[in-house]
Amino acid sequence: MISVNGKTVRDPAYQTDPARDAVFYRGERIIYSEFVYIVMNKPLGCVCSNDEPGERIVFDLLGDAKRPDLFTVGRLDKETSGLIIITNDGKTAHTVLSPKHHVKKTYAYCLADPLSEEDRRTVESGVELRDGYTTMPCEITPADDRSGTITICEGKYHQIRRMFASVSNRVTSLCRISFGDITLDPSLAPGEWRYMTDSEIASFGSLQNLKEMR
Ligand code: URA
Repeated sequence: MISVNGKTVRDPAYQTDPARDAVFYRGERIIYSEFVYIVMNKPLGCVCSNDEPGERIVFDLLGDAKRPDLFTVGRLDKETSGLIIITNDGKTAHTVLSPKHHVKKTYAYCLADPLSEEDRRTVESGVELRDGYTTMPCEITPADDRSGTITICEGKYHQIRRMFASVSNRVTSLCRISFGDITLDPSLAPGEWRYMTDSEIASFGSLQNLKEMR
């Protein structure tokens, strides 16, 4: 079933050189890639980490594509849905997540109470959270007085929920719709995923994503 450079190989320990060898499985060329890049529409009620026993984990939604070296690029709360990037490319993920690179992440939010203009401006200019951390400036684009989009360029624990809580409001729903230049694919239903396109991979790894937020 398997051939390497036109010769059948039966030895399971046979070593190939991915850069030079043409490997076929049942007549179909197998292209080896060191890195895997996945975009998923994370459903509500699912966690991003492997170390929470009893919880549904995003990796379990990957079926046969699940492998032990995958991790999520940052985390979304259990009750946040939307775009999550899954990869085994630790170096790029580290760069993209580094606070000094200020990658923009946009979320659609709904609030329990109306957001006044004053509160919007307060949150946008940066608020002090209960742990003493002051958030960086962000952008809020209201759709109406209880919903809209918010773009932040950092990723503290429960950040958006805590930012709105600081002006005595409460997030009732949160969905990430973009990460850098990568946007949530509307054809992915909650729980669905696909491999990134070449242009998404290029954008994920490129410095285009790493603009300063002004
Ligand atoms: N901010 C939050 O509060 N939760 C998330 O999941 C992401 C950003």
